[in-house]
Amino acid sequence: MRLNLVTVLSVLAPLAAASPLDLLGLAAWDVEGFAKDNPIGTTTGGKGGATVTVTNAAEFSAAVAGDAPKVVLVKGEIAFPARPKIGSNKSIIGVGSTAHITNKGLDVFNSTNVIIRNLKISFIQDNDCITIRNSTRVWVDHNEFASDITKGPDFFDGQVDIIRGSDYVTVSWNYFHDHWKSSLVGNDATFRDIDSGHLHISYHHNYWRNMGTRGPAGRFGHQHIYNNLYVDFHYQAIHSRSDNQVLVEGNVFRGDTREALSTYGLVIPDDSPNTCTCGDEELDGFANLGAKNDWGTAGVNITQVGNFKKAPYKFKLTPLVLVAPLVKLGAGVGKI
Ligand SMILES: *[C@@H]1O[C@H](CO)[C@@H](O)[C@H](O)[C@H]1NC(C)=O
Ligand SMILES: *[C@@H]1O[C@H](CO)[C@@H](O)[C@H](O)[C@H]1NC(C)=O
Ligand SMILES: *[C@@H]1O[C@H](CO)[C@@H](O)[C@H](O)[C@H]1NC(C)=O
Ligand SMILES: *[C@@H]1O[C@H](CO)[C@@H](O)[C@H](O)[C@H]1NC(C)=O
Repeated sequence: MRLNLVTVLSVLAPLAAASPLDLLGLAAWDVEGFAKDNPIGTTTGGKGGATVTVTNAAEFSAAVAGDAPKVVLVKGEIAFPARPKIGSNKSIIGVGSTAHITNKGLDVFNSTNVIIRNLKISFIQDNDCITIRNSTRVWVDHNEFASDITKGPDFFDGQVDIIRGSDYVTVSWNYFHDHWKSSLVGNDATFRDIDSGHLHISYHHNYWRNMGTRGPAGRFGHQHIYNNLYVDFHYQAIHSRSDNQVLVEGNVFRGDTREALSTYGLVIPDDSPNTCTCGDEELDGFANLGAKNDWGTAGVNITQVGNFKKAPYKFKLTPLVLVAPLVKLGAGVGKI
């Protein structure tokens, strides 16, 4: 019998208190990247605060309000009638594989130090699954985001949108699937002054499958995008425009993925045909390539090489050959 990595890890999983991935040193399981290493402090969420368990929208909204540190455990499915606003110093953590948010998504507005882990968020109406706006130190980890890609680009909105001068965010080990627009960073070319110098975001070990655009799409910021797996990301995965900078390394692209990375200012018609069927022209962005990526058959379209050559922190880079099995094994809910 030939033991592959997946078999080895699944045998080790129940034995290890921490993740077997941590054990083997192949990838970070705890917070890593801009939400950890930044000038204003590591993201700790509700650490040190009371722990409360919530099972409905009213309990959830009450528990996440205000700035007192709190760990909020979420049990079962909650169909929100309105978007809850998550205050500072909160950890929102799903219990087992039960936590499922539908109908309305979550707002992190004017907050700092927020952790969102182990939630399934699907079929959100009229807005994003999570909007992070004017907020700092947010860790979005081990969640699952899904809807229905056959409804086209504008039926559902984004999955994790990060806007209005937000900073020091890490988006890790999430499973994004069956959805058109994934993650928009900087939502409007008119917010140049508010966004420039902010929007430092790390994306690592996310699994994107059967998606349309924005994996992520950034304006005005810096995104370090490493060790993600893209399968059937149909139109455009990583898009850097309006002077945005991306550092792209150790990612794997598979299946029907037209464009892995582009710095053209053009917002392709497949992204926002509601604005103009010809697309929407902005300034180009910048891209740097670090450790080798596996582009598969996807295109790479870099018009400007930037100066974001190296992450300003230490991180564990998974060997390229192990990215696909590791991400498939570790991403999504029920893993932490
Ligand atoms: C919680 O967040 C606020 C920001 O709104 C911060 O000023 C404060 O120090 C934090 N409180 C605790 C107890 O960590
Ligand atoms: C965020 O701050 C802005 C500006 O001070 C304010 O208008 C808005 O109501 C705040 N939002 C929340 C959810 O606190
Ligand atoms: C951003 O949030 C801070 C509180 O953290 C608030 O004082 C400020 O007014 C907000 N700015 C905007 C543009 O919403
Ligand atoms: C690069 O992107 C532009 C704009 O989307 C497109 O017109 C062009 O065909 C692309 N070039 C390559 C080589 O993919």
